[in-house]
This record gives sequence, structure tokens and C-alpha cells, in this order.
Amino acid sequence: MDPVYYNDEEYQEILAYLNQLTTEAETLPYPQAKELTTSLLQYFDLVHREALARMMSLINSHYPNLKRDLESDFTIKTLLGLYDLATPEQEQNGKAKGQVGFVPVGQVGLLTPIMETVWAEAGNINKLHPKELYPKELAGENVLLCKIDQKVFALRNACLDSVLPMQFGTIEGHQLICPWHGCRYDVRSGISLDKPTQKLTTYRVAVERNGDFKVGIVKERK
Ligand code: FES
Repeated sequence: MDPVYYNDEEYQEILAYLNQLTTEAETLPYPQAKELTTSLLQYFDLVHREALARMMSLINSHYPNLKRDLESDFTIKTLLGLYDLATPEQEQNGKAKGQVGFVPVGQVGLLTPIMETVWAEAGNINKLHPKELYPKELAGENVLLCKIDQKVFALRNACLDSVLPMQFGTIEGHQLICPWHGCRYDVRSGISLDKPTQKLTTYRVAVERNGDFKVGIVKERK
């Protein structure tokens, strides 16, 4: 089969560059960017893995010889190897060359949690006093609510690297000041103003016309 866009060497270069980009993404200094990049890679991996697995299952049952022909092409054989779909010998060869999928195999498939947002009723915005802090347990999470300039903010109610709650803290502008040792967080982003590479989990808030609001808690789907 003639190559469509790239020859085998170019394809190997593309793989090597993808590998390099994946490694660089793992060393990103910003936890939020790193988390997002990892999730993107995991979900790209899942999208491809699921469809390819179904396609190969159909090929195996209806056209068993086609798989052999497909695997005679370097790029197809490599792709199947990345998703554990190559025949054992080819799979071994693929892995021996150090090829990787979008993310290490151990981190995908059933080990990759599917996340969903649970919208929990959290009260009415008109009952919140500006700049006061309200602790609430929502969908199993300890959440801290506050209202600033008619907007509700929701954060994880535990200081970074600690389980100490922050409802006795204070609000200055958009800063939440922890009552224990004075750490400051921006309530809009959760970012620590003392350690800007770290942040508290923040939650989305959806307010209805009558002022009732819900907080979106992202949880692993059961
Ligand atoms: S526990 Fe929050 S600053 Fe120490």
C-alpha cells in the first residue's frame, strides 16, 4: 500500500515528537495545566481505543485475513500496537521499540475514571450575606461558599495540604484568608497567592432567575 501522507521514517519521527511532547506535558509547572493536558490525552486515547477495538473485533470475526494484511503496513501495525490490538508478536515488537500511546496503557481504559458533574442544590443567593463564608456539604464534598459583588463562589473547604476548614477565615476583595496561618487564595480561581503554582479546587455555580443556585461537583461516575 502506498503511503498517503508520510513515509515510515516520517511517521516514526511524528511518533518520537509526540512522545517528546507527552513527556514535556508531564513536567508542566502548573498543576491545572498538567491535569487538563493529562485528561485531554486520556480522553483522546479512550476515543481511539474504543472505536479501534470495535473495528478490529469486526475484522477478526468477518475478515480474519484482513488483519494480517493490515498489520503488514508499518503505520497500521504501530497504531494497533499502541492500543494493545496487534497480534502478540507484533505487540511485543512495538513495545520493545519503546512506543507509547497517548498515555501509558496502565492509565487508560477501565483505570481511567469517567468524570461527571453533579449539580447540588446549595441555597438562594439572596440569603447569603456579602463576604461571609458558608460551609456546606454538597454531593459528599466539603464546600465553602461566599458572595462577592452579587456573585457566588464555591471552593473546597480545606486549606491546601491540610484538612483544616476555612469557614472562620475572612474575605478581602476577592481574597480568602485562611484563619489558621493566613494563607491567601483568590476565590475566583482558587489559586494560592502564596504559592501560585498551587490552587484549591473551585466549583462552578449556576444561579437561576429566582436566586436559587446549584454547585457543580465533578465526581467519578460510578
Ligand atoms: S491551614 Fe491554612 S494557612 Fe495553614
